[in-house]
Amino acid sequence: MSTQHLPGQPHFAYRGDELFAEELGLAELARAHGTPLFVYSKAAMLSALRAYQRGFAGRDAQICYAMKANSSLGVLQVFAQAGCGFDIVSGGELERVLAAGGDARKVIFSGVGKTRSEMQRALAAGIGCFNVESEAELEVLSQVAQDMHLQAPVSIRVNPNVDPKTHPYISTGLKGNKFGIAHERTLATYQRAANLPGLTVVGIDCHIGSQITQEAPYLDAMDRVLDLVESIEAAGIPIKHLDFGGGLGIDYNGDTPPAADTLWAHLLEKLDARGFGTRKLMIEPGRSLVGNAGVCLTEVLYLKPGEQKNFCIVDAAMNDLPRPAMYQAFHQIVPVSGPAPDQPALEWEVVGPVCESGDWIGHDRMLQVQAGNLLAVMSAGAYCMSMASNYNTRGRAAEVLVDGAKAHLIRERETPVDQMRGEKLA
Ligand code: LLP
Repeated sequence: MSTQHLPGQPHFAYRGDELFAEELGLAELARAHGTPLFVYSKAAMLSALRAYQRGFAGRDAQICYAMKANSSLGVLQVFAQAGCGFDIVSGGELERVLAAGGDARKVIFSGVGKTRSEMQRALAAGIGCFNVESEAELEVLSQVAQDMHLQAPVSIRVNPNVDPKTHPYISTGLKGNKFGIAHERTLATYQRAANLPGLTVVGIDCHIGSQITQEAPYLDAMDRVLDLVESIEAAGIPIKHLDFGGGLGIDYNGDTPPAADTLWAHLLEKLDARGFGTRKLMIEPGRSLVGNAGVCLTEVLYLKPGEQKNFCIVDAAMNDLPRPAMYQAFHQIVPVSGPAPDQPALEWEVVGPVCESGDWIGHDRMLQVQAGNLLAVMSAGAYCMSMASNYNTRGRAAEVLVDGAKAHLIRERETPVDQMRGEKLA
């Protein structure tokens, strides 16, 4: 039987007409667990991770998976077992890391709005570093740590004012963004941090955006960060680690981001050239570790051909796959079991059941389908389930992790009872 790999997705392939994840047929998984269903390939996650590990071979580097991309426990467990740390942005994410067996000492805590109680919990758990995003936050963190008779390890997130050339909602390193400390304020902020009694300065960090497909913004940001490190250290404040954030893009639709190891070969050349090659490195990749490791299976409910548009109504919706509605994002949509025989290939608007015109999954997709067919929405491993909602009181989908020929149900489909838990009639 012929095997045909999908571009950019080596762990999902057609065998004959049937789409497989590793050794398992997706139609069978959909039959067993229902739809919409997220299916993840463990091998795809580990091979994405290995590209970074190859890039860092022989270096002192810590990969902290940015778990906001996909925070399901079964996914976190894969990365925890592989020795990853985690980049978190809330107390809830910390609890998930601990529940999945992650090591608190390898956790870094990012985000512009950490609360006092989140700081307390993270200090008590002994996390590795707080990535602080404002002068006001430094003061509060120092106070909280002092009250607990602890020292909070901190890194300051600098805003290098570099254009990552991506969607405006996912650009974070420009002056107009809410993130980080402005380049010009950085030295003064480090001096303030070094004098606060509850803090120990350990690093510096930056993150310029997401779905970045070019190397140049990374190289520019690195130069700017290293200039700052030189001036901070000249002022007598040692910087132990350099954290260059996440942001590397994936191939959704013929995108051509650099491979993680190639990108890092070039970044390490610059680090070496500037004399920082032996410094401890941290990175916070999210999407590039999980994005192309997941698909969302959905069933065609109804076909509704029309004068202006042909609608293909499927059982997944914007509450499961929010990226098209939020960012006009493109996800490939392919048949799980080959084209439907006897059906003409037509252009379809693939839409969900939610009562919003913004509830679309794909525009103008050429498909040969009929009701009851299964479709796979590709590249759905990142920022889909973790951004899913219960809008229209739709339960969140189930999730399966495929490991070779084994399928693990890592999340049960959410029921109405699950959804109403904690609610009370007046
Ligand atoms: N570190 C920090 C501080 C971040 O804010 C982010 C993502 C990351 C790391 C991981 O970035 P990644 O490697 O995944 O690009 N929901 C949007 C993406 C939002 C990204 C937010 N920050 C989407 O679906 O495209």
